Amino acid sequence: MNKPSTGKRLIDALAHRPVDRPPFWFMRQAGRYLPEYRKIRAQVGDFLELCYSPEAAAEVTLQPIRRYGMDAAILFADILLIPDALGQKLEYREGEGPVLEPIRTGAGVAALDPATIHERLSPVYETVSRVAGALPDGTALIGFAGSPWTVACYMVEGHGSKEFQETRLWALRDPQVFGALIDVLVEATTAYLGHQIEAGAHAVQLFDSWSGVLSEDQFARWCVAPTQAIVSQLKQRYPDVPVIGFPRGAGSKTADYVAATGIDGVGIDTSMPVGWAARTLQSTVAIQGNLDPLAVVTGGKAMEDQARHILGTLSNGPFIFNLGHGIVPQTPPEHVAALSELIRNWRNA
Ligand code: CP3
Repeated sequence: MNKPSTGKRLIDALAHRPVDRPPFWFMRQAGRYLPEYRKIRAQVGDFLELCYSPEAAAEVTLQPIRRYGMDAAILFADILLIPDALGQKLEYREGEGPVLEPIRTGAGVAALDPATIHERLSPVYETVSRVAGALPDGTALIGFAGSPWTVACYMVEGHGSKEFQETRLWALRDPQVFGALIDVLVEATTAYLGHQIEAGAHAVQLFDSWSGVLSEDQFARWCVAPTQAIVSQLKQRYPDVPVIGFPRGAGSKTADYVAATGIDGVGIDTSMPVGWAARTLQSTVAIQGNLDPLAVVTGGKAMEDQARHILGTLSNGPFIFNLGHGIVPQTPPEHVAALSELIRNWRNA
């Protein structure tokens, strides 16, 4: 516990080093709740275009940092850039979200082309290096990708869903061919995150937004094993770059996920009891989460009470304050300011 500080609270917390107060950042901290984001988004027009425009993407990455001074910026991009780069047709429709041409056969998997993904993704790496060069010294830059399971959910279903039944059925019926898709994603994701690290990301996060729809055995096979493969390859090449995993909805299966994957930090969603997380997980891994994003819509006492409960329970171990899922578009920016102030004024015992 007495190793010297890295000068970045987020990186210190992930390495179980002492911090004066918990680092904080918020999932979807860049986005539609901010008027300055909406302005740039309207100028660029298309969301994908924005992800592939380094100057504009770097600007929207930095917008929340200027306003609120979080301890980390997160690259502005999307988890579905990987299917796009692999050659799957993708568009974002206003009010509908992402729409892809579904892949449900071995031929569909074979048609994916990993050879040229980094050409398509090179603007993202440029965004990373621009942001890394522009951030204050104490602010970490988080790179990210979707986990293979969650990205596969969109690739197979072709759109968002609550249950992802087509994907789960395919995984159960034909694990060999579905497994080939997951293998393509493990390789592409590892290389993608490696490039982000080379470009200047100080940490990376894997978003597994739909791990909660799986049974115990399917979770082990499609969430834990691919994540473990990505983490072990990254750790071989970049032993000092921390990896955060966010198996949203995994509940008590999070304990197996932490033990098997070797991640440095774990995101916990709003449904996770923080006392359970502190007792069960925090001796081995830094915890990140879990304020209800709707409490930030409400603001006031409801938000502050919940934030204090989380801080009081988790801040004496390795901990990163965050929400249990992303900031929603109807969030008043001044509530994010009040929350940032509350955390900034917190002092660890
Ligand atoms: O600030 C940040 O957090 C960084 C940028 C970021 C975005 N998406 C930008 C975005 C990150 C980290 C993501 C991750 C992401 N994308 C996830 C995992 C986290 C989660 O929310 O569970 C998922 C599942 C996606 C896929 C995706 N992208 C969906 C389902 C949608 C439509 C829903 C929506 O919120 O509109 C998107 C679009 C998207 N990604 C937007 C943003 C800012 C909104 C696009 C717009 O400006 O219209």
